[in-house]
Amino acid sequence: MEIVIQPTYEDMSRLAAQQIATLVRNKPSCVLGLATGSTPIGVYQELIRMHRDEGLDFSKVTTFNLDEYYGLAATHPQSYSYFMNEELFSHINIPAEQIHVPSGVATDIDAFCSWYEGEILKAGGIDLQLVGIGRDGHIAFNEPGSSLQSRTRMKTLTRETVEDNARFFSDVSEVPRYAITMGVGTIMDAREIVMVANGKNKASVIVEALEGPVTSQVTASVLQMHPHVVCYLEKQAASKLTNREYYQWVFENKPGTEVPAPAPKTTRKKKNRR
Ligand code: GLP
Repeated sequence: MEIVIQPTYEDMSRLAAQQIATLVRNKPSCVLGLATGSTPIGVYQELIRMHRDEGLDFSKVTTFNLDEYYGLAATHPQSYSYFMNEELFSHINIPAEQIHVPSGVATDIDAFCSWYEGEILKAGGIDLQLVGIGRDGHIAFNEPGSSLQSRTRMKTLTRETVEDNARFFSDVSEVPRYAITMGVGTIMDAREIVMVANGKNKASVIVEALEGPVTSQVTASVLQMHPHVVCYLEKQAASKLTNREYYQWVFENKPGTEVPAPAPKTTRKKKNRR
């Protein structure tokens, strides 16, 4: 796991977007897993900028979103489908048929969830999954206690999540109590995972997730078991990490950027006399 601490939200967002853009350039038909919440907005703004100013091409990219509120249609302004259109899709050149967001109005939920998992497989699996983190340590809507092998399914949101997300609704009573979410196992199948976290209110849960034990009580902690994870943290979100100086040191001394060590002195080997 690589932990990259940045001084500002903008710096954090730019680095995460650069990692995504590098994949899109190297593999134009890549499969991206995308996230909602306020944290990834800066990443999306930077991707939009790169599309506009640098011609970053999304025409062959396929996307799968992590989750959707159950009970909200895609046209509902608080639905994650609506959010993604507003914050990213309507600003880039991705064809609509390559975009997947879980349905919030599926009637046969099990059938829908199996179909969603099947579509991910048919697309070749997710190359890079972007995730944020909830204050209770959830990734997507995998609330505490979610199986670390879970697949796409319906989950009941915690009171804390409902209250946290109430800021996007006119009243807390309007926040859906359920969501359709990729499972922890679905997320862990992605070939690369990029996490973004911002702000002081994430500092405690970031310590639990990145330096604490792997536990279903903090589903983000399972990322410690994934071989290719980069966590981009704004400095306040990273402020309680015990080893933050080391993470900084690793970032500053990335292989390839190090000053070459002086060549060893050539001394003649002493003969081993008996
Ligand atoms: C929701 C989403 C998560 C997101 C979390 C944090 O619960 N389902 O995917 O990580 O919010 O949101 P924010 O980035 O606004 O703190």
